[in-house]
Amino acid sequence: MLLVTGGAGFIGSNFVLDWCAASDEPIVNLDKLTYAGNLGNLATLKGNSRHVFVRGDIGDRTQVEALLAQYTPRAVINFAAESHVDRSIHAPADFIATNVVGTLNLLDAIRGYWNALGESERLRFRFLHVSTDEVYGSLEPIEPAFTESSPYAPNSPYAASKAAADHLVRAYRHTYGLPTLVTNCSNNYGPRQFPEKLIPLMIHNALAGKALPIYGDGLNIRDWLYVGDHCAAIRAVLECGRPGETYNIGGWNEKANLDIVHTVCTLLDELRPDAGGPHARLITHVQDRPGHDRRYAIDARKLERELGWRPAETFETGIRKTVQWYLDNPGWVQRVQSGAYRDWVARNYADRAEA
Ligand code: NAD
Ligand code: DAU
Repeated sequence: MLLVTGGAGFIGSNFVLDWCAASDEPIVNLDKLTYAGNLGNLATLKGNSRHVFVRGDIGDRTQVEALLAQYTPRAVINFAAESHVDRSIHAPADFIATNVVGTLNLLDAIRGYWNALGESERLRFRFLHVSTDEVYGSLEPIEPAFTESSPYAPNSPYAASKAAADHLVRAYRHTYGLPTLVTNCSNNYGPRQFPEKLIPLMIHNALAGKALPIYGDGLNIRDWLYVGDHCAAIRAVLECGRPGETYNIGGWNEKANLDIVHTVCTLLDELRPDAGGPHARLITHVQDRPGHDRRYAIDARKLERELGWRPAETFETGIRKTVQWYLDNPGWVQRVQSGAYRDWVARNYADRAEA
């Protein structure tokens, strides 16, 4: 039995779906169902007795302890987080509550559970914490990619909250011997990503004929990873990673935001042509994100060397699958556009003058 947190969000739901398709081992899925959590992501698991969904908060000690006692998982994978940088700039407190205090609560409940396990279960148990490359800060153009020993230099409230959580995980390993694993991953893209993030937002706006808002000059670089490859890497780390170790996960796809948006536009021109003209005509430069990190790049060689993992998708294959998924699932996008989503879009983009 695995206990997964945040398994109704983008990466967590992809992980749960992939896991249930490939394994008979059951999963308990604890998710608070914030604006980013969506049970529709898990609709195909309805009636599947190997997936148990529980609505709840990783910060709720009583609930986490009860789940550990009831399901006696051999591992816990923590995806649960507030994950959007722009939201952390508007309202950082939620990020501290879930990403820092919530993770601390989870760690401490797990420590009690793990201490009470029998010898062989204690040896087998793992806590895998899913983190981000943003904890390492921003790279200059000529600097080498982040390795597992790059110093932490988080720049946004989101990145700082994830860095704090990583430090707590490290401390629980060092002080209490908890068998922890940390993964620091680059930007994911793929099916079921909430349309506040760059790629689904651009697909969504382009299909609606709305402006495609590029922050600043659009030359900020991210290292894009297809979500299915991320899930495969997490499975590899869970099974064969060494307790106490960190593994960087990246797609070897450094690309500027403007290039990403042009690629999305070109694919839409092919798959869903617009009578008004090429989708790229909608590109609009807007005021930059405060403190916007210039470049992230992941050196994923440790994961390849130790566990034999490499991404299966190129950016070209992954982005085509992603655009096609959004075209094939208009109902999914419609359902996630609640009033709360519209309020967020109004708030984040209203004060961004065209640049
Ligand atoms: P997401 O925002 O799509 O989903 C987060 C999920 O966590 C949602 O289902 C939400 O309901 C749930 N959640 C939030 N607070 C909770 C709480 N207190 N208790 C229980 N559940 C809670 O995020 P994502 O993009 O799927 O990211 C998953 C993890 O991966 C996060 O830890 C994030 O920091 C990390 N990460 C994401 C990316 C990326 O590109 N998306 C890259 C690297 C790392
Ligand atoms: O690097 C990993 C991180 O990637 C994860 O830890 C975060 O959870 C995830 O949200 C993502 O953070 P980013 O800030 O890089 O992702 P986002 O999709 O918000 O933005 C990607 C780039 O696109 C970034 O340089 C900002 C830019 N951008 C974004 C939006 C939403 C725009 O130019 N316009 C936009 O409207």
